[in-house]
Amino acid sequence: SNLTQDDLKKLAAYKAVEYVKSGMVVGLGTGSTAKHAVARISELLRQGKLRDIIGIPTSTTTHEQAVSLGIPLSDLDSHPVVDLSIDGADEVDPALNLVKGRGGSLLREKMVEGASKKFVVIVDESKLVKHIGGSGLAVPVEVVPFCCNFTRGKLEELFREAGCKAKLRVMSGGEAAAVTDNGNYVVDLYLERDMGDLEAASEKILRLPGVVEHGMFLGIATTLIVAGKSGVTVKDR
Ligand code: A5P
Repeated sequence: SNLTQDDLKKLAAYKAVEYVKSGMVVGLGTGSTAKHAVARISELLRQGKLRDIIGIPTSTTTHEQAVSLGIPLSDLDSHPVVDLSIDGADEVDPALNLVKGRGGSLLREKMVEGASKKFVVIVDESKLVKHIGGSGLAVPVEVVPFCCNFTRGKLEELFREAGCKAKLRVMSGGEAAAVTDNGNYVVDLYLERDMGDLEAASEKILRLPGVVEHGMFLGIATTLIVAGKSGVTVKDR
């Protein structure tokens, strides 16, 4: 078939939106895959096939998209329990552990998706890995701007044995630090080897003063939808 990667993302997104029912509070993910799910939800609302949806956006970008598409929105303060969230991921392992945040939205995503009864992850097959964080791609960590180079160094030290290089994320084409929706910075961890026990790694990162959150989502996803050249598959944890 001649499906592009974007076609695959759309296929996964549309499949996930089949889980959305009228009356639900729905977490709206961020990124090039999730944006297809947001568009699909608005289409079904316009067609009258869905009613009474309340969207909880996971970024200012998704907030803007949802507003422009007329999806009614709220937040976790008003709706602390979310029925269902749909979002993409940068890496997914066989146990449905994820790396997220290469787009920078990891904190709000983790808050919303962690508050969700069901969290459906949508990816094209290029995102599947055996071990998260071991592929040579970044594990993002959101840090406070105050002395971010100190925190960067502490993060690098934590995973020295895994050959870690920690880099402050900069804006594309510039030298200025990239700023998250929450006014923080991002340190990207590049590991030569996987970090072993993920829960232990998570605890170590979160214990560092200066760290706000990291992009490993452990035991949060409940369902994985993968679109590949040979079709769409659904897997529950
Ligand atoms: C945003 O910060 C990320 O967590 C995204 O959800 C993730 O990067 C997936 O994005 P794509 O669907 O664009 O690959």
